[in-house]
Amino acid sequence: MSGQREQWTSGAGFVLATIGAAVGLGNIWRFSYVAGENGGGAFLLVYAICVVLIGAPIVIAELALGRSGGGDAVTAFETPAGPALWRRAGWIGVAGSVAILSYYSVIAGWALKYFVGGATGALWTTAAAGYGAYFTDFISQVGEPLAWQLAMIGIAMFVVAGGVQGGIEAANKILMPLLALFVVGLAAYAATLPGAGAGWSFLFVPDWSVLARKELYIAAMGQAFFSLGVGMAVFVTYASYMSRETRIPRSAAAIVCGDMAFAILAGLAIFPAVFAFGMSPEAGPKLAFITLPQIFLQMPAGNVMGSLFFGLLVAAAITSMVSLLEVPVATLIHRLRLRRWTAVTLVGLTVFVLGVPSALSYGLLEEVRIGDGGILDFVDQTASNYLLPLAGISICLFVGWVWDGRRAAAAADLAQGLPATLWLWLLKVVAPATILLILFDSTGVL
Ligand code: TRP
Repeated sequence: MSGQREQWTSGAGFVLATIGAAVGLGNIWRFSYVAGENGGGAFLLVYAICVVLIGAPIVIAELALGRSGGGDAVTAFETPAGPALWRRAGWIGVAGSVAILSYYSVIAGWALKYFVGGATGALWTTAAAGYGAYFTDFISQVGEPLAWQLAMIGIAMFVVAGGVQGGIEAANKILMPLLALFVVGLAAYAATLPGAGAGWSFLFVPDWSVLARKELYIAAMGQAFFSLGVGMAVFVTYASYMSRETRIPRSAAAIVCGDMAFAILAGLAIFPAVFAFGMSPEAGPKLAFITLPQIFLQMPAGNVMGSLFFGLLVAAAITSMVSLLEVPVATLIHRLRLRRWTAVTLVGLTVFVLGVPSALSYGLLEEVRIGDGGILDFVDQTASNYLLPLAGISICLFVGWVWDGRRAAAAADLAQGLPATLWLWLLKVVAPATILLILFDSTGVL
């Protein structure tokens, strides 16, 4: 690999791909269950504050660093000359994205199984006896979860092997508009269900008493990181293929607003239905796989709506998996001069092997409990609530303090004066301090 670097075809193509990275299982499966467990409206508010104060400045920082670094996640941290320790910081993103992909692909596999089952009808006939039993039976097997996980990894590998323009950008151009259409359609449909109003209130009328719960803050912050997709150098990597002409603040605003809009729309597709059918929003990670199919079964045209919903989940998962896969792939291509398909194969297989314990964590490995959950829950909680925020701090401190502030602001296309000053102070002080406070508070150190 030498000479000309790959590039997005246009600014719009780049923004679409970054929104594709942000919007994923996190907006639909994870947002609905975490918001459901944490009381809805008040959670949404704290989540939005985390997105604005912590998430948005980091998105801008990742984009600026990535475009200036002109390479991969690892190289980006080496380019602005800094202390030796910092030269290794990029590896956090490489290792972290592989870790997240390992269990993300398992859940994406569940979605694919439900989508295929929904489209072929099996989900509405044989499974109709009870989705609790159906889901438990499915995830407690060995071969099935692994096969579906492998299928999703295979699809993501295929896209990434196609390269930046022909694979990643092309897939996003097809899947993202479809996704937007689906989610708006489902939310509109859910609004027509009798009793839907309770779902709207759940999401928009805060029950302030839940603010007393410590877990709410760490859950909201973890969700903000996960859903935006910051901390693992995904935007650093995507921005390395970005042209000088594309404006960073505007792109960051599109990412943040697009991601938030998607989460809210997914909530408006899910909660009205949950309440209309008298279900509990607090079902946890199983919400999308046990509670929702039950609802679809009872709804008019539920088989079509249900298949669309799981299709939505699969499409959203693909564009996010692709972004996570590109981080290590770009690093291997750039640092070890591997060919794209060699890098993709290597990373894809690693992700699959590392994901096996998560895939089997409800069956063969059910006995393995860490804290109050199984392996998959543990990896998900640790990665989102601790690994991502800590990686986020390192990006804040690196771009805010190690990299010269003026240069960083210029690299981020921020005008000197208020915008640059505000951004730098959010990065240098506000975001890291808030992250630390929430982490300490939740671990009981403070
Ligand atoms: N944001 C994606 C989602 O909501 C997942 C994701 C993509 C991600 N890239 C990431 C999460 C980087 C953490 C870090 O599903």
